[in-house]
Order: sequence, then structure tokens, then C-alpha cells
Amino acid sequence: MEKRMEAIIDLCQTLPVTVDVGCDHGYVGLELLRSDKTNHLIACDISKPSLQKAINLLNDNGFTERFSARVGDGLSVINKGEKIDQVVIAGMGGMEIIHILKEFNKPNAIRNLVLQPMNQILQLREFLCTNGYEITRDLIIKEGDKFYHILSVRAGHQELSELELGFGAIYSDRKSKDFADWLKQKEKKTKAILKQMPKDNQKYDYFKHWLLNMKAIKQTLTEL
Ligand SMILES: C[S@@+](CC[C@H](N)C(=O)[O-])C[C@H]1O[C@@H](n2cnc3c(N)ncnc32)[C@H](O)[C@@H]1O
Repeated sequence: MEKRMEAIIDLCQTLPVTVDVGCDHGYVGLELLRSDKTNHLIACDISKPSLQKAINLLNDNGFTERFSARVGDGLSVINKGEKIDQVVIAGMGGMEIIHILKEFNKPNAIRNLVLQPMNQILQLREFLCTNGYEITRDLIIKEGDKFYHILSVRAGHQELSELELGFGAIYSDRKSKDFADWLKQKEKKTKAILKQMPKDNQKYDYFKHWLLNMKAIKQTLTEL
């Protein structure tokens, strides 16, 4: 199994009903059913052809009785009063994930939420901690030359510092080699940007500030 997929499945809990939002090919749902992490899967996607790929995969693997498939935007496919325990939203932009959670607006209805945004991780963390969620894990996974943020989240209250918004809320999840590699790459990119950016550019101070934050977070790693 791909490292990204493995980490997503790992952060999922064993719970009766799981919704895979933006299921596309259906591999996440297939693994959840195979591993018995969920009894019933609700596979959904905004695109009918994408959803059809998941339907075919799940049927071909003998899970016809254990899933339902729905076309629609985010969690709008969940019926009023329908009980769901866990939600996975993976492989989408951070702003799209925020849109889905804003529309749903019921943090307490979900026991575990696993999110894998493709970008805008800071904005997503900020949204979560100001809208009734608490981040319980906050991983960085390296697969090939790509880095993926994978979060588990539940209803709760959390205040995050600027460093936590930028680099993850869970201190122990910064211990990994993948996190160190990600930080090194980010530092290198930021230095390259600053090198070619005129000092009077309005974004210069912003990048300089985050470069200092990277140094500060590196310091915390030596304390782990
Ligand atoms: C890159 S695929 C990710 C597939 C799978 N979740 C994964 O992580 O491997 C993104 C999928 O999200 C779907 N999608 C995008 N916006 C959506 C929304 N608002 N509601 C439901 N599905 C959405 C797309 O149609 C596409 O199939």
C-alpha cells in the first residue's frame, strides 16, 4: 500500500459507519472495509463518473452489501438525522475541505475525521481550531518526492500558536524523518524566494518571518 494511503487508514478508527468524501477510485473505502475498520461505507463524490469507479471497485471486491454510493457536494449527501461516525476527506484542496466542513457545520456529529489536504494547511488548521474541532494527530508523510499532511480531528476546543498553525499542533508528530525532510525543503525554497525577491517587495517581510519561524521550530526538534 502507498505510504499516504497507509497513514490515512492508520488514522482512521474502528467505527461502524464511515463516509469517504471525494472517494474517486474508491481505494480508501476499499481498505477500510478490507481491514474491518468500518462495517459500512458511504462512498461519495461530486462527480458521477468518479463515483462509478468506486462502485465498480467495491463490487468487484465483494463488498456490495457493505456500502452505499452517493453523488453530491461534500457531506450534503448525508440525510437529516442519519448517523455517521467517521469521515475521510483526502486528496482535495484545503479550501475545498473548509467549504465542506463549513456547510456541514456539525463537529459533534462525527467521532473521528481524517483529513488530507493537498495545500493551504495553515488555513485549514486555523479553521479547525476556530470552528469547534481539535486536532489529535498531525502527520507529514513523504512519498517519492511529495509531502502530504494528514490530520485526525475530533470535536473539541484548541488554541494554536503561530508556530503550531504553520508546523503542526502535535509536538510528538514532529519527531519523524519525513517532518525533518519537509522542513529542510521548505527552508530551502523560502531562502531561494528571498534571494531573488527585492527587499521592498511587500511579501519580503512575510517570507523572512516564516524563515525565522522555521529556525525556531528546528530548535524545538533538538529538544524532542
Ligand atoms: C484527487 S481525488 C482524491 C481521491 C481519494 N480521496 C484519494 O485521496 O486518493 C479528489 C476527488 O474529490 C472529488 N471532489 C472534489 N470536490 C468535491 C466535493 N466538494 N464533494 C465531493 N467530492 C469532491 C473529485 O471529484 C475527485 O474525485
